[in-house]
Amino acid sequence: MVDIVAVSIASSVVLVIAVLHFINGTGWESNADISQEILDRRAATVPETSFPEPMNRSLGGGGGAVAAVGEGGQEGAELEEAEEEAQSPADMPEDEVEYFDIELSKEGETIEVASNETILDKAEDEGFDLPYACRQGQCVSCAAHTPDGPAEDHVTHYEQETFTDAEMEEGYMLTCVAYPITDFTLETNEAP
Ligand code: FES
Repeated sequence: MVDIVAVSIASSVVLVIAVLHFINGTGWESNADISQEILDRRAATVPETSFPEPMNRSLGGGGGAVAAVGEGGQEGAELEEAEEEAQSPADMPEDEVEYFDIELSKEGETIEVASNETILDKAEDEGFDLPYACRQGQCVSCAAHTPDGPAEDHVTHYEQETFTDAEMEEGYMLTCVAYPITDFTLETNEAP
């Protein structure tokens, strides 16, 4: 037979213990959130860069990997140089354009060519029917020769892919991609 008094006493004791437990709490506390502190410390270990997003994805705006090719870096300087080399004379600012006299010896005429236009374009504008095909420096159809010395002393080739350095040294040029940088004499329709 169940002893009602004993059960009541036991229930009371359990109830008191439970109440005391929840009043005092478990004593457990969560750890402090230090994630921002860690982010700040990591950000401080990489240098700042001036790269805009999306390149500058490093913590705190730094760019460890991209900074190596950024401003002041040797690779960065080479990239800038390559970009300058790839610039077409056709894109030069108007206030930098100069004009040069090119004597077409076979035609017996002299034409004035701006430093931002090709010899072929200008000769055609002047009514000369010079040979050409690709107009992109990839064949020899527009080849010409200057007796005045190395071609590169007289013109800037933009993306010519046909002549060797030795051939240009002999005075050969491609009029479709040749922009004058000085006065000179030109023998049209001459290939090595
Ligand atoms: S037309 Fe082809 S290289 Fe000039």
